[in-house]
Amino acid sequence: MSASSPLVLRSDSADQTRALAGVVAGSCLPGDVLLLAGDLGAGKTTFAQGFGAGLGVTEPITSPTFTLVRQYPVDSGRPVRTLLHADVWRLEHLHEIVDLGLGELVEDGAVALVEWGDAAEPVLGADALAVDLAAGDGDDERVITVRPSGERWTARWDALAGALAQWQMTS
Ligand SMILES: Nc1ncnc2c1ncn2[C@@H]1O[C@H](COP(=O)(O)OP(=O)(O)OP(=O)(O)O)[C@@H](O)[C@H]1O
Ligand SMILES: [Mg+2]
Repeated sequence: MSASSPLVLRSDSADQTRALAGVVAGSCLPGDVLLLAGDLGAGKTTFAQGFGAGLGVTEPITSPTFTLVRQYPVDSGRPVRTLLHADVWRLEHLHEIVDLGLGELVEDGAVALVEWGDAAEPVLGADALAVDLAAGDGDDERVITVRPSGERWTARWDALAGALAQWQMTS
């Protein structure tokens, strides 16, 4: 497997999705941007909840739909100090995504999670981690594909793949 092959994961429950998202959070550094894509109810916000818990966010994470971007402080000694949680599904123009200023905010010690991130890919995707959630065979099964772009994740990729091994569908 090359260093940055996509990871294809299977989750059997919302709790599994939260758990694997927490593992992804454990690999994050300030400035990382994750783009979450998937249909309504696929589990993007569920992923965000587990991700926040893994980072050390103690406030409950809810859907940011009506606020566009919520900021959560990270209550731990980690270098990541803030989680930005954005939902851009209602934005019609790419410049509106640029106007949210996520690029500048993440430079200040934050990690950004963007729901409906495929819409944001042209402006935020250069070094982002794309997380695509799709329905699986059963009601509670999801296939979650985690795919880096650029070189930002290369040095961390093998360790992340190892940490996610229990959920990987491919060997
Ligand atoms: N394996 C799973 N992973 C994630 N969620 C699951 C899973 N199995 C069942 N669920 C349920 O599916 C729902 C996912 O809802 P969630 O709000 O996370 O989706 P979403 O992608 O953010 O939707 P929206 O596009 O409306 O914001 C939750 O009710 C969750 O409990
Ligand atoms: Mg949601």
